[in-house]
Amino acid sequence: MSLERSHNPSDSAPQADASPLLDVKSLQTFFFTGRGVARAVDGVSFHVDEGEVVGLVGESGCGKSVTALSILRLIPSPPGRIVGGEVWFEGRDLLSLSEGEMQSIRGNHISMIFQEPMTALNPVFRVEDQVMEVIRQHRRVNLGEARERTVELLREVGIPSPEVRMKDYPHQMSGGMRQRVMIAMALACRPRLILADEPTTALDVTIQAQILDLLREARERTATSLLLITHDLGVIAEMAHRVIVMYTGRVVEEASVTELFTTPLHPYTQGLMKSIPGIEAAGAGKRLEAIRGVVPSLYALPPGCKFNTRCPYAFDRCFVEEPWLILPEEGHPVRCWLYRDRDERPAEENQEKTAGSPAPRESRGEAMKEADHV
Ligand SMILES: Nc1ncnc2c1ncn2[C@@H]1O[C@H](COP(=O)(O)OP(=O)(O)OP(=O)(O)O)[C@@H](O)[C@H]1O
Ligand SMILES: [Mg+2]
Repeated sequence: MSLERSHNPSDSAPQADASPLLDVKSLQTFFFTGRGVARAVDGVSFHVDEGEVVGLVGESGCGKSVTALSILRLIPSPPGRIVGGEVWFEGRDLLSLSEGEMQSIRGNHISMIFQEPMTALNPVFRVEDQVMEVIRQHRRVNLGEARERTVELLREVGIPSPEVRMKDYPHQMSGGMRQRVMIAMALACRPRLILADEPTTALDVTIQAQILDLLREARERTATSLLLITHDLGVIAEMAHRVIVMYTGRVVEEASVTELFTTPLHPYTQGLMKSIPGIEAAGAGKRLEAIRGVVPSLYALPPGCKFNTRCPYAFDRCFVEEPWLILPEEGHPVRCWLYRDRDERPAEENQEKTAGSPAPRESRGEAMKEADHV
C-alpha cells in the first residue's frame, strides 16, 4: 500500500484524558511446550485512549496476536497461559474477571476482527444467523429486530442487497465480502474497542483499501477505539495515531505515527521502515533492504538486547544487558542502549517505570517450575 495516500491521522489524534480506555500493564503470556517455555509476550505495557487508533507492528512471531488474544483472554490453554500483568478496561482488570463476566465483554464492549474470516465464521451457518447471534447474545431483542439490525449492519459495511446476501453461507461469499461480514459482527453491539488482527492481509490490494476505508468510516462514525495489528507499515501510516513496535514479545519503541515515520529510533524500526516499498527503496528495480538475519527463536533468545543478533550498531553492552525503555524524547520510548546518554531520568526510575517489569514473583516462580518439568 502506497504511503503517498496517507492522510496523517495524527493531526486529528484524540486528546488523552485522565484514564485510558485500555491500559495493558506488564502483560506476560507464556506457552509451556515440549520445547520449553516460549515467552510470547514478556512484560508488554501500552494503552489505547478513547477514540484512538493504536497500531501494533512487528515481524511474524513477535507476539502481536498473542497480545490481542490475551486482552480478551482467548489464549489456548494449554499450552498458553497469562502469567503476569494487568489489562484495565473501563475501570476493571479483565484478568481478574470471571469467565461469565468476560463473555459479556467479548463482542459487546470489545470485539475482534481476525485476519482470515473463514476461521472466525462458522461454515455451516448462514451469515444472517451468525450476525444475529452476536446481537441476541448481548441485546434483548426479538428475532425480527435482530434481523432488521443485521440488514442495517450489512448495508453499513457495503454488502449489496443485504436481505438476499445474508442468506448466503460464508463459502458463497468472496474474501472481501466475508471480511465485511466480520466487520459487521465486530460493530454489531457498538463496542468501545475493536482489536483488528491483520484485518486486510488476506485480501488483494484493491479490496484491502476498501476494507480500510470501511473500518475508518465505521470507527469515526461510532468513535470506537482501534488496536490495529499489522506488519504493513503502509496501513499504519494511513490509519493509526500512535504506534507500538514489538520484537520478541517486547515493546521496543512507541511513538506517534508522524514521529515514528520521521524519526524512527530503534534500529529494528529503522529496518522495518527501509523494507517498505516506496520509502527508501523507491528506485525502480532496487532491492528492498530487509533486516539482516532472522528473528531468534523464543526458546533460545540471546542474552542482552534481543535484537543484538541482527543489529548493525550493536556494541558491548548490548550483548550482556537488556535495555529498558529509555525516553530520549517525551512520548517516544525506545528499548535501545544507543539512546542511554539522551535519557535524563535516573536509571532506577527508568527501570521501575518503563521497562517490561518482571512478573509477580509467584507467577514467575510457577512458570520456572513448569519450565523445569518440560
Ligand atoms: N498455540 C501456541 N503454542 C505454542 N506457541 C505459541 C502458540 N501460539 C503462539 N505461540 C508462540 O508465540 C509467538 C508469538 O505468536 P503471535 O501469533 O503472537 O505472533 P504474531 O506477532 O501475531 O505473528 P504473525 O505476524 O505471524 O501473525 C510465536 O512465535 C510462538 O512461539
Ligand atoms: Mg498474528
